[in-house]
Amino acid sequence: MDGYLSKLRKAADLDTLAKIVQACHCCSLRNGCQHVVFGEGNPKAQVVICGEGPGADEDRIGRPFVGRAGQLLDQILAACGFQRSQHVFILNVVKCRPPGNRTPAPEEIQACLPNLRMQVHLLGPKIMILMGNCAAQTILRTDQGISQLRGQWVQKGEIWFMPTYHPAALFHRPQLKKAVWDDFQAVVAKYRALVDPEHRSPHC
Ligand code: URA
Repeated sequence: MDGYLSKLRKAADLDTLAKIVQACHCCSLRNGCQHVVFGEGNPKAQVVICGEGPGADEDRIGRPFVGRAGQLLDQILAACGFQRSQHVFILNVVKCRPPGNRTPAPEEIQACLPNLRMQVHLLGPKIMILMGNCAAQTILRTDQGISQLRGQWVQKGEIWFMPTYHPAALFHRPQLKKAVWDDFQAVVAKYRALVDPEHRSPHC
């Protein structure tokens, strides 16, 4: 683990980091998954979106948010005028699929945290969208639930964090859609304020 961490800290760019993380065995999740899902998007994006961990589709393909929740996320991003390859970088708290899509255990989250920290350090975003309990609680270091946290900006250092519900939650609780849409509209407003006043979006 110590050898891994010192290698990780020396990564000077995202491609180098991705290669190192591909070889991570800091917890046992790596033994039961097909791919280490590092994340994808524009390495220069000012918006980072964080989910929980890869599901079955992501594990099979090796890319984040490509299943049903990912398709919904793509629709939300399109409505905001954000494209995966241009405006955002998408990643997860843990890079390997927890068996049966269970929530990652605290020790798995801790083991993967240096990977996430280094990604955020190298990406240097202005805005981070934290989707669901796992992302919001891990990154904001709180026990509060997402229903309490969502919709309120938290600024830490140079980064503005917006916690919101995970898109997968909208399938069984469609009444949450309005809250998620409000949160993404707040992100667009912040993006215009901090990054690009000319940003165009079809629906907000
Ligand atoms: N859910 C997540 O939290 N992340 C993914 O990549 C896919 C589904």
